[in-house]
Amino acid sequence: MVNVECDLHMTSGEGEGSYAKYSRRQTIVTNETKPVIEKATIEVYKALLPKTMVIADLGCSTGPNTMLFMSNIINMIAHHCSKLDEQDHVELQFFLNDLPGNDFNQLFRSLEKIKNSTTTCDKGDIPPSYYISGLPKSYYSRLFPRHNVHLFHSSYCLHWRSQVPEGLEASGESILNQDVYISSTSSPLVVKLFQEQFQKDFSFFLQLRHEELVNGGRMVLIFLGRKDEDVYKGDLNHMFGFVSKALESLVEKGLVSKEKLESFILPVYGPSVDEVKEIVAKSRMFDLDHIKLFEANWDPYDDSEGDVVLDSANSSLNIRNLIRSVLESMIASHFGGSILDAIFQEFRSLVAQHLKREKTKFAVIVMSLKKIY
Ligand SMILES: C[S@@+](CC[C@H](N)C(=O)[O-])C[C@H]1O[C@@H](n2cnc3c(N)ncnc32)[C@H](O)[C@@H]1O
Repeated sequence: MVNVECDLHMTSGEGEGSYAKYSRRQTIVTNETKPVIEKATIEVYKALLPKTMVIADLGCSTGPNTMLFMSNIINMIAHHCSKLDEQDHVELQFFLNDLPGNDFNQLFRSLEKIKNSTTTCDKGDIPPSYYISGLPKSYYSRLFPRHNVHLFHSSYCLHWRSQVPEGLEASGESILNQDVYISSTSSPLVVKLFQEQFQKDFSFFLQLRHEELVNGGRMVLIFLGRKDEDVYKGDLNHMFGFVSKALESLVEKGLVSKEKLESFILPVYGPSVDEVKEIVAKSRMFDLDHIKLFEANWDPYDDSEGDVVLDSANSSLNIRNLIRSVLESMIASHFGGSILDAIFQEFRSLVAQHLKREKTKFAVIVMSLKKIY
């Protein structure tokens, strides 16, 4: 059974196969969501005028996106303060959070790059002083003292559950059979268990962050969800269906045992916008300032807009590398590293066939929340 805290981490490094190289889509999303982040940042700054503004990026990983997020905040504050001639007043304290298995060494080494951000400030804007610390711990636990944080940000993380949904595995056998996530043949019980785990995790996450935020503090959360209300029609079902099929083919070849596959379940869930809204409303802890769903091509290097994949061979390679950089730590820990090449070769071929038939997209939910006192 997958243990999220021990087994999940993105592939580190900056070379071929690293998460940093294939997280380009997340970079584009960071740029697209900049206005939402800017509004939350400036509003919380203007309302509270903190001397030290505490900002946390939850699930920061090791790629370029957490640097981009911090640079954006530094520039936004610099620009706002210079308009009001308030440069000396605020200092920024960033906390970069991820699970302990994240490559914090690589992350800290790459912090040098953020220095460039100070030179990209608009002419005349003086960047505020900033301090950066790492915070290796699950965000499904308390991370900060009460009433401490002004702004939380989390990008491409909250679709991960805290654990494999309870009840999916009974006496060593998964009731998902050989699927690793909800598929068209999953029973209503399987769906219910995934949904309950999501509801439990997301409500708890809201409660924890509510305790840690200062009154009036904000959160901007970006994560994978589902466009269709029908839980069987999410694009994560599609994507992870190919992972299941690739693993099944290894069972047929005798490379993986059926029992091993049946105990491998991905701790993820892609909710619809309505499911998310319902939990926020039930919590009565946050005002929902903004929520929007947009779609992003599976291939992180395909910026085309139409409904046809122009180069399915190349796109399937990029998608394979992206998904491998996200899943390989969990797959290697469960099945052993020796099957990685075989499973992702099979996965790529299934994705290539699929892309010839249709272009599927990730559904990305962006939301901005303000703490209710
Ligand atoms: C796809 S990466 C996103 C990285 C970065 N935010 C970006 O936008 O490129 C998801 C990250 O969430 C982290 N993560 C997943 N569950 C977590 C948890 N419970 N606590 C802290 N980090 C978690 C993973 O370790 C991983 O680094």
